[in-house]
Amino acid sequence: MSGLHSFGENIWIVEGPLVRDMRAWFTTRMTIVKLSSGSVWIESPVPASPDTMESIAEIGPVKYLVAATMRHVWRLDNARTQFPDAQLWVCRRTRLTLQHGELPITGILTDTPPPDWADDFEQLEFKGNRFSSEVLFYHKKSHTVIIGDLIASNKKIKGKPLSNFIFRLGGVLYPKGGVSRDIRMSFRDRDLARQSLETLLSWDFDRLIIAHGDCIETGAKSYVEEKFQWLNH
Ligand SMILES: [Fe+2]
Repeated sequence: MSGLHSFGENIWIVEGPLVRDMRAWFTTRMTIVKLSSGSVWIESPVPASPDTMESIAEIGPVKYLVAATMRHVWRLDNARTQFPDAQLWVCRRTRLTLQHGELPITGILTDTPPPDWADDFEQLEFKGNRFSSEVLFYHKKSHTVIIGDLIASNKKIKGKPLSNFIFRLGGVLYPKGGVSRDIRMSFRDRDLARQSLETLLSWDFDRLIIAHGDCIETGAKSYVEEKFQWLNH
C-alpha cells in the first residue's frame, strides 16, 4: 500500500521515519501539493518507499522542495538527490538553522509567494522571534494551513522516555500540544507576533497539517486560536 495519504483536493501527506533533534526523537511528515500548473510542490520532504515515490511521480513532476522551518532544512540534502530538477526554497536563516553542507538554494521564503505557486498558496513568515524562523502556508483549494514546528502535539514514542519527558516539559505532549514553552519564551516582539497571528487567522482555513502530531481535519481555525491564547496575555 502506498504511503501517500490524501488530505484534501490536490494535497497529500506522507509519514517518514523518526529523526533525532536536540536530544529528542520526532515523528516526521511531508506535505505534497499538486499546483494548478500541474507541477508538484513538497514541504519538509522525508525519505519514502519506492511505491510512494512512484505514486508521487504519478501526481506530476516534482519542481519545488521547500523547508519552511529552520530545523527541517537539512532534509533537502537527501531530497534533492531524489528530485534533482527541483528548486530549493528555505525559510530565513538563523543561528539555529539545521543544515548539512551547501545547498543550491533558489530562494528564501517570505510573506509573498513566488509567482510559480502564488495561485495556490498564501504564505506568512511568523514574525517576532529572532531565534526561530518559520513560514506558514495556506493552501487555498483545500482550505488547509501547513505548520512545521510552531504548533506540535507529539504522541508518546515507545522506548524513548527522554523524548516523552522533553515533550511534556515543553507542553507539546499529545493530547495537549501547542506552541512549545521555549518557542513561546523566545518571542520578544509580541506585537509583531500578534500581527502574524492576525494574518494567519484571516485565512479561510478549516484543516491543519502539522509536522509533529495529529493533523486536524475540521475546525482547525479555533484549534489554532486556542494554541495561541498565550500571545494575548
Ligand atoms: Fe520539526
